[in-house]
Amino acid sequence: MATHSLLVLYGSQTGTAQDTAERIGRQAQRRRVGVRVQALDSYNVANLISESLVVFVCATTGQGDPPDNMKNFWRFLFRKSLPAGSLCRLDCAVLGLGDSSYPKFNFVAKKLYKRLLQLGANALLPVGLADDQHDLGPDGVIDPWLISFWQKVLSLYPPPHLHLPGLPPRYVFQFLDDVPEKLMNLLPPDDQAPPSSVHPFPARMVSNERVTDPSHFQDVRLIEFDITGSNIQYGAGDVVMMRPCNITEDVEQFCQLLRLDPDCYFILTPTDVPACLPQPCSVRYLVEQFLDIAAVPRRSFFELLATFATNELERGKLAEFSSAQGQDELHSYCNRPRRTALEVLTDFPHTTAELSVNYLLDLFPEIQPRTFSIASSLLANPNRLQVLVAVVRYKTRLHKPRKGLCSNWLASLDPTQGEVCVPLWVKKGGLTFPQDLETPAIMVGPGTGVAPFRTAIQERIAQGKTANVLFFGCRSETKDFYCHLEWEEKVQAGHMTLFTAFSRDQEDKIYVQHRVKEQAKLLWDLIANKNAVFYIAGNSKQMPTGVCDALKEVFQQEGGVTDSQAQEMLDGMEKAGRFQSETWS
Ligand code: 2AM
Repeated sequence: MATHSLLVLYGSQTGTAQDTAERIGRQAQRRRVGVRVQALDSYNVANLISESLVVFVCATTGQGDPPDNMKNFWRFLFRKSLPAGSLCRLDCAVLGLGDSSYPKFNFVAKKLYKRLLQLGANALLPVGLADDQHDLGPDGVIDPWLISFWQKVLSLYPPPHLHLPGLPPRYVFQFLDDVPEKLMNLLPPDDQAPPSSVHPFPARMVSNERVTDPSHFQDVRLIEFDITGSNIQYGAGDVVMMRPCNITEDVEQFCQLLRLDPDCYFILTPTDVPACLPQPCSVRYLVEQFLDIAAVPRRSFFELLATFATNELERGKLAEFSSAQGQDELHSYCNRPRRTALEVLTDFPHTTAELSVNYLLDLFPEIQPRTFSIASSLLANPNRLQVLVAVVRYKTRLHKPRKGLCSNWLASLDPTQGEVCVPLWVKKGGLTFPQDLETPAIMVGPGTGVAPFRTAIQERIAQGKTANVLFFGCRSETKDFYCHLEWEEKVQAGHMTLFTAFSRDQEDKIYVQHRVKEQAKLLWDLIANKNAVFYIAGNSKQMPTGVCDALKEVFQQEGGVTDSQAQEMLDGMEKAGRFQSETWS
């Protein structure tokens, strides 16, 4: 049976060739390629006929002789009795290490290369001739040669061909018999430093209120956190980061499938574990807070899973999903219906039961933090931070509805049932607002796109800036017109102007861009005469284009410019920071 892994054989006199061979071995491991590295004379050369892929790294000594630890191999290889086609199944590459100041420069590598071809082997690339005399030393040749080598290897042997179950995992789990005495909880922030991804601030959830009508299709939450004592400072346009957790039901199902005790503790070696994983750690913590089991898995997940499959049917299917030819199939199985990694595991129960816990951190990526525009101002609400979250739920052909991890996790937290803390930190966002009192801000934010503008309007009013124009769009005045009481109050007080577009309260759709066009005179005056800044935020794919087109029409109608001049005006505004947008999908 052919051995499907890379074999690196070296002949080394001073240790440089061995070093290079071991380097190739490490590169293979990083590429998750199964690899063996051996000195030529410690390898049974008769086995060469059953190898698929071998790279030879050979030095040449001063007289043009092979190094001592490949002399037996050398004698064997040049036996006259070896038939011409005996290595016809072998893909090979030869890298020589030599010194061009000697007359027999890289003699061994050149001769080996010729002999391998004579025996029928297929050379992946021309022999590499590293030279101590090269300006950059031998690496001047070795580095580019290795780049070509890996390109060739990975195109000829795409995963999982060279990927073996014997490949070591990144971490090894050592389970503890007892619950450790000293448990590491979320770290409190450093004295002065603001919270960060490594030191998030556990913010107490104050309220979690649905702001759309219960009969409305979409659940949107206004969630408030208490950030007292956190050192968090934020302003209009800034964003808050939160790392969601997997829901309890998924955590339990996962532990059952893998026969893991959620209350068991373990430590990992090597100990350079990701920053947000405590040591010791419980299985529950790992699965709930760290492993992204609810995401749609990538091809590499199937590649690694396939290495554990012993069940014939499952192995065949996983091999197909891992192969280049199986990508369409994988797309319709996984990506199109948004199947989660956990659901895939339930579809491959035999393989899942075989999984080694040591590979969990190789199989599942870390749960990534999510970004939300902050929806409240510190000036108006000291020590508080609010977000507006649309709870993501939709149907695909799968029976269970698909749920966005973070929004559903947040929606599930109920501060009226006991204290709930969410680790968070803030970052600068993309939007910036004018400093001076007079410059007007025109803000177009349909749906939850209004979030950064709520912060901006609250902040600007607290600073005495009352030139605020908001265009808000939603489906219906009675169903999803959130924050309307707050806007009414501010409009009454003369602190802002509001234009609304209720898309489904009449037969024809009315969108924010229609309102923008209707307000052409006002907008032109603000932009052309009062230096206003124009903002768009929201999550519709076409909305930003629709609003830009409307704005250009305003320029044409009121400024008497052509279509291309209107575009130039918009580009000019963008360059000057007077047109800003933040959109998400
Ligand atoms: P619709 O769902 O009725 O089409 C917030 O989501 C609001 O943005 C809703 O009223 C939604 O309307 C509207 N919307 C959807 N697509 C849009 C687009 N291309 N331009 C502007 N608004 C849009």
